[in-house]
Amino acid sequence: MAEMATQQLTLGYQRQTIIDALDLQLPAGKISVLIGSNGCGKSTLLKALARLLKPRHGSVILDGVDIRQRSTAAVARGLSILPQAPTAPEGISVRQLVALGRYPYQSWLQQWSAQDEAMVEQALQQTGVLALADRPVDELSGGQRQRVWIAMTLAQDTDLVLLDEPTTYLDLAHQIEVLDLLRELNRHQNKTIIMVLHDLNLACRYADHLVAVDQRTVVAQGPPAEILTEALVKQVFKLNCRVIPDPFFGTPLCIPFGRETPP
Ligand SMILES: Nc1ncnc2c1ncn2[C@@H]1O[C@H](COP(=O)(O)OP(=O)(O)OP(=O)(O)O)[C@@H](O)[C@H]1O
Ligand SMILES: [Mg+2]
Repeated sequence: MAEMATQQLTLGYQRQTIIDALDLQLPAGKISVLIGSNGCGKSTLLKALARLLKPRHGSVILDGVDIRQRSTAAVARGLSILPQAPTAPEGISVRQLVALGRYPYQSWLQQWSAQDEAMVEQALQQTGVLALADRPVDELSGGQRQRVWIAMTLAQDTDLVLLDEPTTYLDLAHQIEVLDLLRELNRHQNKTIIMVLHDLNLACRYADHLVAVDQRTVVAQGPPAEILTEALVKQVFKLNCRVIPDPFFGTPLCIPFGRETPP
């Protein structure tokens, strides 16, 4: 299990402060989903959680230890991250890219093992890209490529998995498939998942813990049914909507109005 927390975390670029003095605790063994409008700082926060961005102030704590006190290799064995817009080395094949997920386990002592091989095959299979294994990544469709990146993230086999909009480019069926897979990994392998999603209805269906980011901080967090309200959507997205219980799953279902108001 992996418990992630921030203490007085302040993040920014040049003069701009993006996240300001944030104290956040993300529950171990749960699925946390970050929501918020474009440019509010979700990716910035996720990068800092993965130690890819140095805080201006404050710290990120993983299982009680500041992640800056851990070695890069230890961080990579503890958490994996799928960034929002990853780029693959030119000409690399699907299998080679997924195998890069095993890199944190290699050293001059520890060569490529049967375990590495098995994890790569499993990740290819779980994400439905086994048939594409020998294809160059550059030649895939956007959705195929996204699933390959997810495979690479899973091949790393970490207790904590961070994903920035993992469903981008995926058709609806593949979105559900990926979210179901992440939930299965969470429920059966105890993986802690922290991800950014834009689809509020899927966020509410799959999150145990929903975190709304706005105005350089977290403005609401908790179980989706408790926090996703019309007022919150208005505050965070400046959008009029109705929130009703999903008729099948019971989780909040947001119906956006926009310029149209229903009869
Ligand atoms: N490398 C960078 N240098 C300077 N400013 C940046 C950099 N990366 C992001 N920003 C700015 O920081 C703010 C937050 O960006 P971030 O990518 O975290 O937003 P986001 O919530 O992930 O948005 P989206 O939903 O569009 O992915 C934006 O104003 C963005 O322009
Ligand atoms: Mg982003």
